[in-house]
Amino acid sequence: MIRIAAVGDVHFDRQSRGRIRDHLEQISQEADIFLLAGDLTQTGHLEEMNVLAEDLAHAKLPVIAVLGNHDYHLDQEDRLTTLLESKGVTVLEGTTATVQVRDTLVGIAGIKGFGGGFPGACASEFGEIEMKSFVRHSRIQAQRLREALLSLDTTYKVALMHYSPVPDTLLGEKLEIYPFLGSYLLGEVVDEAKVDLVFHGHAHKGVEKGTTYGGVPVRNVAQPVIRHVCNIYVLDKQNGLSQSPGPVFSSAAIH
Ligand SMILES: [Fe+2]
Ligand SMILES: [Fe+2]
Repeated sequence: MIRIAAVGDVHFDRQSRGRIRDHLEQISQEADIFLLAGDLTQTGHLEEMNVLAEDLAHAKLPVIAVLGNHDYHLDQEDRLTTLLESKGVTVLEGTTATVQVRDTLVGIAGIKGFGGGFPGACASEFGEIEMKSFVRHSRIQAQRLREALLSLDTTYKVALMHYSPVPDTLLGEKLEIYPFLGSYLLGEVVDEAKVDLVFHGHAHKGVEKGTTYGGVPVRNVAQPVIRHVCNIYVLDKQNGLSQSPGPVFSSAAIH
């Protein structure tokens, strides 16, 4: 049994100090791993990420993150990654992390991901150079996630991304923007790699729960969706996926 705390889209700015730090003690008591699903900052500014990195430096459990589109806005993603890693956070981008939880190995493959849409309404690698490059980025992101997932040889496999691999968790968002919220290519590789659980963010107006076409549970943990500091999920090979009972962080609800 493993317990995963997860949240996305915390969108830290210069005034956010303490928003996570004040809850880290409780998170580390109730979870084994803390995952952050991108859009860690508001505009991708180093000072914004520094506020978050200083909060996370107090963590007593492994913290693993991917970046989101907001973190790329100022083209500083490499410096933001270095900053987070200097405070002990593992940042994944087509890469993996393995965490030993008691007698179990948990593998996490992470990537930002990208848009492109879902069957019946997706963009294709055809026409103008801008269109081809948009869809190519999505395809390459999915390929890199595939390689990372297939390299894992662990009891549990978790995929962490910013963009959605399924349309289910986008319910509530405008249909017209689905192609900017995720890609079916991410869902396909999740199914191929027989992942146990997927986390994503990005869809602030979506819903928490979804499933890939192959039956893998997907959780949209964008903070505006879960309305808490984080959610805690319990994954058990025998009993499947459950959510930690009760409103674990009700006192810290975000409205
Ligand atoms: Fe966001
Ligand atoms: Fe986003």
